[in-house]
Amino acid sequence: MVLRTPLLIILTLLTLLPSDASWGADKGCRGCHHVHYPDRGHCISCHGGDDRTERKRIAHYRLIPARYAGFTLPGSGEVKRGKLLLERYGCRRCHTAEKQGALLAASLDRLGNKTPEELVAAIDRPAIHMPQFRFAPAEVDALVNYLLWLGRNRGVGGKESPVVVHFDRKGSNVEHPFIKRCGGCHRVLTGSLGGMGGGSMGPNLSALFTSFYPGSYREGEPWSPQRLKAWLKNPRQIRPQAVMPPIVLEEGEAERISNFFMLNQ
Ligand code: HEC
Ligand code: HEC
Ligand code: HEC
Ligand code: HEC
Repeated sequence: MVLRTPLLIILTLLTLLPSDASWGADKGCRGCHHVHYPDRGHCISCHGGDDRTERKRIAHYRLIPARYAGFTLPGSGEVKRGKLLLERYGCRRCHTAEKQGALLAASLDRLGNKTPEELVAAIDRPAIHMPQFRFAPAEVDALVNYLLWLGRNRGVGGKESPVVVHFDRKGSNVEHPFIKRCGGCHRVLTGSLGGMGGGSMGPNLSALFTSFYPGSYREGEPWSPQRLKAWLKNPRQIRPQAVMPPIVLEEGEAERISNFFMLNQ
């Protein structure tokens, strides 16, 4: 009897609960917070978290904080800014977004299971063959809002994520002219040879000859094999402020480097 009493009390309490399935939605959150955007869904539909508890630590598990929640509102300015940054910095050289771009790295349409913190880390402390863009915090916020938006709105039937494995091929390919002549200052991610080069003094040259490459030879003139050859001969002739020295190449190397870019985009 002594043991049964608490059980009976619980059972009685349970029968008193309304049978409506939505009972309790947001209750945990509302215990500590005021309600906003009441017509736009439950707290967790925008912020994630767990609304079945009143303990903050659990309620905030995988929470989407305010700075990354803008993407949940229609016409979000953060999403627009993030999308512009993605275009300006050429993320599509390696990733697909909205089903457009290259398949050298994970599709950004499929990151719906990542937390904002994981996305911030992926941008601030990039993987070995992803460039370090050094974005300002507000830019990272905008990009993460855009990535979260992509994760929620990703279309079905896009390109599959790549099966490219990126490992550091130290030692192999050392005879490749890109590694010998450019790799000390540049990196490039390729489909067939993985990541090449180890320098970060010059820009990451992945997909140089594609429309996804940010920047051009000269204003309005995209990179091409011919223009690359002219650049390698004397960068200062094209841009007086260039830091890159002229590169002395052996017979046939310029051709091999150009072909290498042509084949890997
Ligand atoms: C026990 C109280 C408590 C509960 C339950 C709780 N919160 Fe909070 N929440 C806080 C406090 C206190 C803060 C202030 C910042 C902090 O300490 O993290 C906060 C901050 C926040 C923020 C702003 C965080 C930021 O950095 O932008 C959001 C969004 C938020 N809570 C959403 C939720 C949601 C959604 C739920 C329900 C799933 C919830 N909270 C449940 C106490 C609570
Ligand atoms: C439609 C999406 C949406 C819903 C639903 C929503 N929020 Fe928010 N929340 C946001 C956005 C966006 C922000 C960032 C500031 C802003 O734009 O209002 C935010 C900011 C916050 C903040 C930090 C700033 C502040 O106002 O204190 C807290 C805390 C918060 N929300 C808690 C909640 C809780 C609790 C609920 C459920 C009662 C909820 N939110 C429902 C989108 C939403
Ligand atoms: C030169 C190629 C390259 C460019 C350009 C690039 N990335 Fe990446 N990125 C990578 C590689 C390699 C990884 C490691 C994971 C993989 O292979 O997909 C990665 C990983 C990521 C991840 C984590 C993915 C995951 O599955 O967790 C995010 C998020 C990301 N990149 C965002 C961006 C954004 C935003 C930009 C543009 C501002 C960008 N990347 C530009 C190569 C690139
Ligand atoms: C000593 C370091 C160094 C070497 C070696 C080097 N580069 Fe560069 N490269 C740079 C730097 C630094 C820049 C940035 C522009 C500047 O200020 O010169 C650059 C810029 C470039 C650009 C222009 C990219 C853009 O977005 O404007 C191309 C293309 C390029 N390098 C190709 C190559 C190739 C191909 C090789 C090898 C044949 C090579 N570089 C070797 C340092 C180097």
